Amino acid sequence: MLGFRASRIGLLILKQLTRDKSICTPTYATRSFTQFLQPLSGTRLFRGAIFQKHHHFSTTTASTSDQGTEQKETISVTFVDKDGDERHIKVPIGMSMLEAAHENDIELEGACEGSLACSTCHVIVMDMEYYNKLEDPTDEENDMLDLAFGLTETSRLGCQVIASPELDGVRLAIPAATRNFAVDGYVPKPH
Ligand code: FES
Repeated sequence: MLGFRASRIGLLILKQLTRDKSICTPTYATRSFTQFLQPLSGTRLFRGAIFQKHHHFSTTTASTSDQGTEQKETISVTFVDKDGDERHIKVPIGMSMLEAAHENDIELEGACEGSLACSTCHVIVMDMEYYNKLEDPTDEENDMLDLAFGLTETSRLGCQVIASPELDGVRLAIPAATRNFAVDGYVPKPH
């Protein structure tokens, strides 16, 4: 009797184990794990795609932007000194030629610091084509230019020539001498 009960208990235990095993079969576990992974890997892929797209987009944009910035924000200007020596510089759009010269240690005077009260920043635009692209000089600039040493048809005051995209490639000659009213004792006429 005791042996019969023991074998019955054993049978019950075996049944239970078999049922539990069916829940944890490798197939089920594998399928669950795979199902769990699929959306995860999909999300990762999606995120990866966004990242790659974003990363690619950012890089391209920055690169294009840099190129555009490079092209749009500076122009090439050549200063030719009295000895004929040339200096090629990049000038930011909006900067005056006087400021650009000073930033690059080019000897161009600017006694009144751009306030149109001298002619020491006199430059000669070497190509008429570029001269014609400039805004017309104001009366004040013309008055000062009249006093400039070695005035030419294409003379301008460096502090009044502002870098703009159409001036890319302009060549400016610095006259051999300037006339500084303060030093030379000249007093400009009042207007
Ligand atoms: Fe004096 Fe240009 S610096 S007018």
